Amino acid sequence: MTEPRAQWKSKMGFILAASGSAIGLGNIVMFSSNAYKYGGGAFYLPYFIALFLVGIPVMIAEFGLGAFTKKSFPMAMRQAGGRVGEFAGWFAILNAGLITMFYVTILGWVVGMLIRAIAMEDVSQGFAPGNTVWSDLIRGWLPVSAVAIVWGLNILLVSKGTKTIEMAVKVFVPLMWVAMLVLVVVGFFLPGGFDGMQNLFAPEPEVLFNPDVWRGATSQMFFTLSLGFGVMTAYASYLPDHSDHSHNAITTSLLNCGFEWIAGVAVFAMLFAYSQLPASGTLGMMFTVVPSGIAALPFAVKIFGVAFFALLLIAGLTSSISLVEALVASLQDKFQMPRGRTLAICAVVGFLGSTLFALPILIQVPAEGGPPGEAPIGLMLLDFMDHWAFGYGLILVGLVECLVIGWGIGAQNLRKFINQRSRFQLGAWFDVLLKFILPILLTLLLTFSIMDQDILKETVYGTGITTADGAGLWNSLVEWSPKLILGLWVIGCGLGAWLLSGATGADLDDRAVEEEVAEIQEEGGLL
Ligand code: TRP
Repeated sequence: MTEPRAQWKSKMGFILAASGSAIGLGNIVMFSSNAYKYGGGAFYLPYFIALFLVGIPVMIAEFGLGAFTKKSFPMAMRQAGGRVGEFAGWFAILNAGLITMFYVTILGWVVGMLIRAIAMEDVSQGFAPGNTVWSDLIRGWLPVSAVAIVWGLNILLVSKGTKTIEMAVKVFVPLMWVAMLVLVVVGFFLPGGFDGMQNLFAPEPEVLFNPDVWRGATSQMFFTLSLGFGVMTAYASYLPDHSDHSHNAITTSLLNCGFEWIAGVAVFAMLFAYSQLPASGTLGMMFTVVPSGIAALPFAVKIFGVAFFALLLIAGLTSSISLVEALVASLQDKFQMPRGRTLAICAVVGFLGSTLFALPILIQVPAEGGPPGEAPIGLMLLDFMDHWAFGYGLILVGLVECLVIGWGIGAQNLRKFINQRSRFQLGAWFDVLLKFILPILLTLLLTFSIMDQDILKETVYGTGITTADGAGLWNSLVEWSPKLILGLWVIGCGLGAWLLSGATGADLDDRAVEEEVAEIQEEGGLL
């Protein structure tokens, strides 16, 4: 490409964009929901270990890779690990694309709730415990239009690449912090709120012996820090040459986790004040439990109802645009397509996918232990895709990227490149971590969870849904949908990545990395 690569205007712009990508829906409710599920205060231990052992080192590696190659993820991985690397790179981008499709669907529901909250006369009635606002919403067609709005916003914010992204995050990210701090202060002064906060810190150490808790903490870490999406590499490829990558990675990670802890405190305070135990999955937490807590506030219910959904929307948008940018940049780096057209194609495909997950047609789901219930098909498909793309995809990508970077570029070479520009010097531990410890650890985690959650269960995740009358073509399609989603994930990401990595694109000198590495080594021995 003859055009020079775009650059962030300032270090601040980059940090805002990277932390805006990291801080999203996952920070506001997923952390609290996991912390409750996995034993309150005890969850902090695996979470902290995952942050320092996996999160920060992988973030340094993803930033380093982008800065070292000045390429978005697939081409950067190609430079590091040849065709295999590029395959893994596209796999990551496509897997993240599937996650973005349902992430935008959830944002569509957020828009729907926001509209309801604005229009509602008395939010405290509408959002009260037992309310059906959300379940009514997802049983209608409004979310499909809302999904179109969210994709429209994504197009707008990514249209001029770093320029528009930087403009958006300068407004949105500080706004998110203010909104969150206000929620904490309110939570603190609620009757019983302080006790609720303490619940978050009450340890239940038995849970530490449950391997599922460690898997939960690790997946949460990848998702919340936007690792394994190929996003951080794309963002770092727009940095000026002499940026301090270790410092950037640590700042971004701590900003993200700081936000998450504050959100946890706010949510726990509010829920315990109103005896709304957060015993609910992420979606239930976001759309019913927290709104019921807000409905019971003694004052300003409407303002908080509207503010909560507005917060979710802007936090989610600054995350989704990061993947849209990473995807567009990847296609541009490979095929040198014009930006506008690339963005339009991605948005149309993304919109169709998000629409699938927003489909309100009702089907029968087997309820564990109870009578079967009804649910919209879109919601079920979303849950199945989440199981594969989020549950396994991100850790799988993390595993392969550690191997490709650790052995392809050579962790010691990347470390040297980073250290030359950094105040904080990475030690040899970084190499050992990237080359051995993380690959072994992530392989163990993946093997454990695939055995535990899939292979030993002997059925495809989600099997058992049917239509009301249980007959006809539509019924067969519904019954087959868990397998179709698994197929879409495997074939969409696997075959897609194979085709894209095999296609002829930009001339890439596969020897470039060897030369760069040689140069690094010449400039004095390894540290
Ligand atoms: N980190 C985000 C969160 O915590 C998730 C996320 C990151 C994301 N990048 C994304 C979601 C790209 C969709 C698309 O919520």
